[in-house]
Amino acid sequence: MKKKVLIGYVIAAVIALLAFEYAFWTNGFTYLEHQSEHSYLTQAELLRDLFLAEDVAGQSGEREDAYEQFADDYAEKYNIRVTIIDAEGNVLGESRGAGELMNNHLDREEVQKALQGESNSLIRKSDTFDVDYCYCAVPVEDGDFRGVIRVAVPLQELQDMDYEFVRSTIMAIAILAALILFLGLYFRKYVLAMKKVENMRREFVSNVTHELKTPLTSIRGFVETLKAGAIEDPKIAHKFLDIIEIESDRLSNLISDTLLLSEIESKKDTKREPCDVNAVITEVVELLQPKVREHVRLIFHPDASVRPYSCNRDRLKQLLINLTDNGLKATEFGAVTISCRSTASQLVLEISDTGIGMEEEQLDRIFERFYRVDKGRSKAQGGTGLGLSIVKHIVELYNGTIEVTSKPGVGTEFTVRLPY
Ligand SMILES: Nc1ncnc2c1ncn2[C@@H]1O[C@H](COP(=O)(O)OP(=O)(O)O)[C@@H](O)[C@H]1O
Ligand SMILES: [Mg+2]
Repeated sequence: MKKKVLIGYVIAAVIALLAFEYAFWTNGFTYLEHQSEHSYLTQAELLRDLFLAEDVAGQSGEREDAYEQFADDYAEKYNIRVTIIDAEGNVLGESRGAGELMNNHLDREEVQKALQGESNSLIRKSDTFDVDYCYCAVPVEDGDFRGVIRVAVPLQELQDMDYEFVRSTIMAIAILAALILFLGLYFRKYVLAMKKVENMRREFVSNVTHELKTPLTSIRGFVETLKAGAIEDPKIAHKFLDIIEIESDRLSNLISDTLLLSEIESKKDTKREPCDVNAVITEVVELLQPKVREHVRLIFHPDASVRPYSCNRDRLKQLLINLTDNGLKATEFGAVTISCRSTASQLVLEISDTGIGMEEEQLDRIFERFYRVDKGRSKAQGGTGLGLSIVKHIVELYNGTIEVTSKPGVGTEFTVRLPY
């Protein structure tokens, strides 16, 4: 519906523009032509007065070229063509000196009218030169002389303006069309992006709600059972309280992970300081020590050549905790190894394990929110399904990349590259 309204507006705008251009074109040019005709006619009348004042007809008896001379003088002065024609239509003088070459002008409409005593003007193509002219003819009577003085002005400039106008109109329409197209495409892209964001938000809210509801339902169930009498049996009561504690922890983890994710996503991360990467990893190793199983070793050999990395220390630590924690959860025998090194332009972190590994097709999805390869296993280990999503966002925060290689039954390796 909105799209149709928009298209309607655009079509209306184009029609309005075309109507305006057309109106301006036709009326504007008609007006300009009228103005030109009017002023040239006045010029022709002035020329007649001069013709009479200078007694050109009288001089023609003494000088053969008196008409030609008169026509030339004024034509040059006012940049026009001047023609003097007698009552029989013969051209007596023509400013271009082409008088003799010109044929009888009795058939010219403006000449005929002038000979009938009417000053007049009209626009037509010249019979002699291939250009549109504005012809203004006025009758002259001076003693024995009876004829016509005609002023002719080429309308080249007006015509050029005409072409110019057509050209600029076409250009304006083309620019407008391109603009509309561009805006349309931009608008479409924007709407699609908005829809995508909205869908993701809706999905996230529904997932979070679902994930929150599960442990809450479980806690409530056990509390009710305890109240109904199970509390009397200390052994059962203890077991139920343990479950309630685990579920509460899960709730708490979920809430803190959700908050962390939204905080990182909003990119409000301006706090950056040079971090000693070896020190951060050592802290992570100590922190996760209680989670290391009996037949597993958590290995890290600090590398003194690693340059400090400028970042939010808490974020770097979170990234390492999430990846190492995953490794520890997935590994029953063997080792989880953390390594770090500096290249010319990057800090490279590698977290590898000898755990259960993953299938190739699962690797594309593990960074999605709430995606878990084995949901039961993840939940049993207190996972929220948000750990890798948080990692990915932290990596993006520092314009880095993350890669994963894995083989079921062999192990997994995550490689994070952060530009210095
Ligand atoms: N090192 C690993 N080895 C095997 N599977 C892993 C490893 N790291 C992550 N996964 C899989 O990716 C899923 C998503 O990880 P994560 O986002 O951290 O969520 P979780 O809260 O389940 O740990 C995990 O549930 C697990 O199935
Ligand atoms: Mg995890």
